[in-house]
Amino acid sequence: MGLTHDPNFHKLQDWYTAHALNLNMRHLFESDKERFNKFSLTLNTQDGDILLDYSKNLITDEVMKMLIDLGQSRGLEAAREKMFTGERINFTEGRAVLHVALRNRSNKPIMVDGKDVMPEVNKVLEKMKGFCHRVRSGQWKGYTGKAITDVVNIGIGGSDLGPLMVTEALKPYAEDGPRVWFVSNIDGTHIAKTLAKLNAQTTLFIIASKTFTTQETITNAESAKAWFLEHAKDKAAVAKHFVALSTNATKVKDFGIDTENMFEFWDVSGGTAGLASSCWEIRSLYAHWQHTVIIGNDLLFGTGHCKGRVASKWVGGRFSLWSAIGMSIALHIGFENFEKLLSGAHWMDNHFRTAPLNKNAPILLALLGIWYINFFHAETHAMLPYDQYMHRFTAYFQQGDMESNGKYITNQGARVNYHTGPIVWGEPGTNGQHAFYQLIHQGTRMVPSDFLIPAQSQHPLRNGLHHKILLANFLAQTEAMMRGKTTEEARKELEASGVSGEELEKILPHKVFQGNRPTNSIIFKKLTPYTLGALIALYEHKIFVQGVMWEINSFDQWGVELGKQLAKKIEPELQDSKEVQSHDSSTNGLMNFLKKNFA
Ligand code: F6P
Repeated sequence: MGLTHDPNFHKLQDWYTAHALNLNMRHLFESDKERFNKFSLTLNTQDGDILLDYSKNLITDEVMKMLIDLGQSRGLEAAREKMFTGERINFTEGRAVLHVALRNRSNKPIMVDGKDVMPEVNKVLEKMKGFCHRVRSGQWKGYTGKAITDVVNIGIGGSDLGPLMVTEALKPYAEDGPRVWFVSNIDGTHIAKTLAKLNAQTTLFIIASKTFTTQETITNAESAKAWFLEHAKDKAAVAKHFVALSTNATKVKDFGIDTENMFEFWDVSGGTAGLASSCWEIRSLYAHWQHTVIIGNDLLFGTGHCKGRVASKWVGGRFSLWSAIGMSIALHIGFENFEKLLSGAHWMDNHFRTAPLNKNAPILLALLGIWYINFFHAETHAMLPYDQYMHRFTAYFQQGDMESNGKYITNQGARVNYHTGPIVWGEPGTNGQHAFYQLIHQGTRMVPSDFLIPAQSQHPLRNGLHHKILLANFLAQTEAMMRGKTTEEARKELEASGVSGEELEKILPHKVFQGNRPTNSIIFKKLTPYTLGALIALYEHKIFVQGVMWEINSFDQWGVELGKQLAKKIEPELQDSKEVQSHDSSTNGLMNFLKKNFA
């Protein structure tokens, strides 16, 4: 295994064994007044500075140097360049990884197989811009001649989480736009409750599915169409109320959407030859990997699917909000703001590509994660945005991180002998403080946590009082996690409050905080479209870097296929009342219980 055979990994391991238990952040801060200056980084973006303070981590100069050396010996710089120059780093699917092209505001050529992808990217953006203008200005009319007031994005996973997260985060920029709704869950409640609030005459449905084969999305889209036709009573009206974001023109047409109203993500599949060769590559890769990888037959080997997938060959669902999948974002906040989101991400792309490793925010975050996951054996990572508008940020990166790095097979086809992607979780502060922070402060597990907050609130209520309280809590939590509270301090506090003797001794251990809990603080000026773009790209690149360190492919997602495959087998078995015996006894028992209770 490359990582654990790397001499720089061994150096860190030896250091960890000899010193890690003695690391005490309180003492480290006391003994080095320069610690903050040393272990923080200010990113000067055009929309204000972003500060990354990573000084409240279990690190020293020596540790940081060893981590950087490890990054270097794992080939981070070369891997980064391979991504930006369109090499097929998604090695299980034989594809380049170029979400960075979707936000390449410099417009410098990015080549894939000798072809510049930028003209196609720009073409799609132009089409989106025109459509956005027509809808937002009221030129686009519904079947009764009324303008669109509500947009429903029907999609799931990467075709839902990104647009949902961003439209929520950027609500203050959506004054002139239509309302947006998101339907993802196959649970009928989601679509039923949403439709109940809408007027068919003024609603636009965006069916967002890269493949246009995802069961949840297509079922929800069909239900939306049936509901719409109950009101419009005219199939011709569908064209005015349904658009598709997809790469699968055939399926979009079959659904009944005019391909004129289909927004492709991009199309760089060099004709049939390119298609055939890519399918061939995938098949031969399959042959190579089949002893370790679970592949749903229907995913790759139906020609139709292969076609759909190959056309979309260089952007994965969870990296697609920058493409036409971001249509609901652009409609809600306006195309100019959508472009600012792209620009912020592009700023971070440049930073990631050019900054030296020890001054590179995504790389530093990634290496700190490696330190905790592979040496301290931390299992989870908390993302804690102190901004109500960012309430879906963590959920978005649950897919971003866990679908990318939740993998145990390396690029050599072997099982890793170290941990890979962490369990990502979290909620906005201060809500989380009153829920799970107890465990972070006094639990038995280490939970490295990222705290994020804007310096300026979108709602400086009561002269900024709310925001000052929010900021104070943000600062207090990371300080408390670092410092903890010693037995002596706890004793003094108890004595000061009049507790003494046996009562004091009994309560004392419960009042002690070990501290030494690692946190990163990320402070940005204000949550603008530009800054949000930069923050999203920051974490995208962090995830990429960790995937490189672990030698896994961060850009496929075979792991979600097995459940989908089995659900397809089970669904028809639920249609009748016959007793089921074709599964294990647990699954049979569950199905038979359900059948008895359907009536
Ligand atoms: O569930 C896996 C997945 O492929 C995600 O990666 C993707 O974001 C989601 O399904 C939706 O896929 P599609 O856009 O093709 O409907």
